[in-house]
Amino acid sequence: MKAEAAEVRSVLSEDQLWAVSDSAEADISKAGWARARAWQALRDTWGWKNREIAQRAKKSDSLVSFVLKAADNPKFDPDQTPWEEAYEWATNPDSVHFSSDTSEWATPTDIFAALDSEFQFTIDVCATAKNAKCAKYFTKAQDGLSKDWMGSCWMNPPYGDEIGKWVEKAYESGQNGATVVCLVPARVDTDWFWRFCRFGEVRFLKGRLRFGEATASAPFPSAVVIFPGESKVRWWEWRAQG
Ligand SMILES: C[S@@+](CC[C@H](N)C(=O)[O-])C[C@H]1O[C@@H](n2cnc3c(N)ncnc32)[C@H](O)[C@@H]1O
Repeated sequence: MKAEAAEVRSVLSEDQLWAVSDSAEADISKAGWARARAWQALRDTWGWKNREIAQRAKKSDSLVSFVLKAADNPKFDPDQTPWEEAYEWATNPDSVHFSSDTSEWATPTDIFAALDSEFQFTIDVCATAKNAKCAKYFTKAQDGLSKDWMGSCWMNPPYGDEIGKWVEKAYESGQNGATVVCLVPARVDTDWFWRFCRFGEVRFLKGRLRFGEATASAPFPSAVVIFPGESKVRWWEWRAQG
């Protein structure tokens, strides 16, 4: 089966996804990537935790986590990437390759430039010295979540379980006088989207973004959310703006 996660989730029910998952090869091999894509869809669309997927699939937690880490790498291409390279990404975080950790996915420069010209950002609230988009930024060591956010803030948060905390902080900072522009996966079924994003201005992006050094587009759609906002939705063809 050769399908992106979005295609898989758009056409298959949860039960059908399990059928795909169960029919793939038990050991990790190229055929196993169909299973990885199905597992991604279960996690991203249906909110399954890795542990729940492992229990249901009768696989170890570490195998599920490993397969998903490799498949999440933006450079991963099920048809091109040699298995050994995917293995290296998943098992060696210090690999010379782009980190498989999606929490480090850097914002594409073109969409950031479009938003920066509109909002003139003064601070990047979650960054490293290498990927910071503004001269002023908070790093993990400083813990951006524990700081006061003021002025015009840029936020492309780590995309793990903790994303809800970042969106909540962005919403609250918007209530307290800051402008916070967030780049998030367009996961409209999540708790954080319903609790916070829908009260901001939500811009759904046409197409998929290509993060960091990725050679392939992200396996999920993205949205820009602006706090404080007017609780409205915009269909944003940002590339057409030139
Ligand atoms: C998706 S990347 C975005 C990087 C960059 N700001 C950009 O827009 O391209 C998220 C960044 O948040 C950083 N980060 C993780 N936890 C953090 C924390 N508690 N405080 C500040 N930054 C954090 C990560 O190191 C990572 O660089």
